[in-house]
Amino acid sequence: MNVKQLAAEKAVEHIEHGMTVGLGTGTTAYFAIQRIAARVKEGLGIRAVASSMHSEELARQLGIPIAPFAAIEGIDVTIDGADEVDEALNLIKGGGGALLREKILAANSAKFIVIVDESKLVRKLGTFPLPVEVIPFAYELTRRQVQALGCEPTLRTVDGKTFVTDNGNFILDCAFPVIDNPADLSGKLHLIPGVAEHGLFVKMTDTVIIGSGDGTTRYL
Ligand code: A5P
Repeated sequence: MNVKQLAAEKAVEHIEHGMTVGLGTGTTAYFAIQRIAARVKEGLGIRAVASSMHSEELARQLGIPIAPFAAIEGIDVTIDGADEVDEALNLIKGGGGALLREKILAANSAKFIVIVDESKLVRKLGTFPLPVEVIPFAYELTRRQVQALGCEPTLRTVDGKTFVTDNGNFILDCAFPVIDNPADLSGKLHLIPGVAEHGLFVKMTDTVIIGSGDGTTRYL
């Protein structure tokens, strides 16, 4: 079995009947959504909210009931992938561009479970360029302010066109030498007008489940 699938399926064991479940985005979260759908078919009664239009569409196609946000009071458990995980369980997310919605779900979840393969584990964050979501208005000026924090920001493009998030924003992929203090950088980024959100998830993770090539999973 694919190592991402191993971690995803272990995480889905944490879902119980009656729960409200947050669906992540990305290639690892994909396997979790598939497994949740299989359990729903077997009779598991849950409702879900999704962190991207893509994951919501996938969930609907697979028969997972999607709840409007107005109808829920909170989320019991959210399962999502990550681009990097450090020793304190801080994350870089947003490689797939869904970081803002992912962070809203994570912040409103009683339990936030992150599913990764070994390659995502790092001592310090920063090898993966930090995705920063910015509103399109004057983003060139916002980019300068982000750059002044010590990184090289690159506007994300796909097939030569500017990538646009589900929220209508742009992404700056910010190459920092290393991120020594994620909480400090998070605070500084939040102070820049034009930054909608960034991909540093600081002290938000409850559990990390890691899938390994030998067919086992382990918890961090
Ligand atoms: C989506 O915006 C991201 O935060 C993903 O959760 C993250 O990039 C991990 O994706 P993969 O599971 O595809 O590596």
